[in-house]
Amino acid sequence: MDLMGLSAGDRAATQASGLEGVVVAETRLSHVDGERGQLFIAGARAEDLTLSEPGQFEAVLERLLELGAGEPPARLRERLAQARVAAFARLEPLGYALTLPDPMDALLAASTQGSAGSDALGVLGALPVYVAASARLRAGQAPIAPDAARFTAEDFMSMLGLPESRARARALDAYLVTVSDHGLNASTFAARVVASTGSDVMPCIAAGLGALKGPLHGGAPGPVLDMLDATMNTEPRAWLEGELSAGRRIMGMGHRIYRVRDPRAFVFERALARLAEEEQANSQIAARLAHARRVEQAAEVLLAARHPDRPLRANVEFYTALLLEAVGIPRALFTATFAVGRCAGWLAHIEEQRRTGRLIRPAARYVGQLPD
Ligand code: COA
Repeated sequence: MDLMGLSAGDRAATQASGLEGVVVAETRLSHVDGERGQLFIAGARAEDLTLSEPGQFEAVLERLLELGAGEPPARLRERLAQARVAAFARLEPLGYALTLPDPMDALLAASTQGSAGSDALGVLGALPVYVAASARLRAGQAPIAPDAARFTAEDFMSMLGLPESRARARALDAYLVTVSDHGLNASTFAARVVASTGSDVMPCIAAGLGALKGPLHGGAPGPVLDMLDATMNTEPRAWLEGELSAGRRIMGMGHRIYRVRDPRAFVFERALARLAEEEQANSQIAARLAHARRVEQAAEVLLAARHPDRPLRANVEFYTALLLEAVGIPRALFTATFAVGRCAGWLAHIEEQRRTGRLIRPAARYVGQLPD
């Protein structure tokens, strides 16, 4: 496009295609350092948040909500657990919404219908209940009731009908914590835009869910697993070259902010290595991990040759696929599971946005026709 003749403002706006590099909010919630490959959530390094026992998701949610709202949420763990129980009691009238074939469509429809008017914890607590119940109903099985004595990660696994495993619950908890917030990503921005209009919580979360569904945001880990399956017994390079020649992107590679490897990939690799150690009878985890590293390296080399000026390295979705697979989550539910974790950040951003009181309303440069 010819930029000559544009005002300085128009030129800056045009150059910021996709809002890249544009700062539209101040936040205390998380910081993404794309050059150094660092992620800070609620003031802590992401990799330091996942070393303890299950229940860290509730802990990070508490810190995020306190930062967002400016005051600590009362009785968070108890209210979140009660929200799961209350959502389960509301399943029956949701009927058709829960059986929609796409799990993200089902989550969006069930939440909009079942959680309208709920408060922040009511909306978040209901998400794992809807994801699990709709998965069971699609499989022709009865939903499993939540247990208010459990933390989110272990209760989600139980509601999905997965076998009880402390090690796997810890790995899922680490996943939920690590994806809880990530600066002004597309879904968080969408939620903040709706919050800025003064709308209530559920429509903000609906906007976040809609944005998260797309393959350029939260829809990538299922396709990553398809890629690992397709290359499992072959040389990955030829398969990857075929994808690129066909004009398709390599899922799980590249990021808008990171110019180095996504730090969350390290956190998930570490969680996987720990799980592999704890489940020594399960040699599949270590084999998948080794294969994923081979595919990642081959993809990195090919993408560097094609885009020497734009480093395209593994992003969060690459190892998300392996971690969630190892935990036993069906791949069709990967994006919906991401939503359960990211909802923590959405809720805190909604509170933070409300405190600014300013409508988010950018401008567009008109390039259409005018009447003569
Ligand atoms: N595979 C192949 N090429 C890729 C690529 C990928 N994963 N990611 C980016 N590129 C290429 C683009 O085709 C573009 O090439 P061009 O300049 O020749 O057109 C160039 O790199 C820059 O890409 P762009 O789309 O401007 O980058 P972005 O910042 O808008 O995109 C993503 C970031 C994440 C959307 C992008 O890297 C992507 O689509 N990745 C795959 C999907 C994915 O893993 N999503 C999860 C994100 S956490």
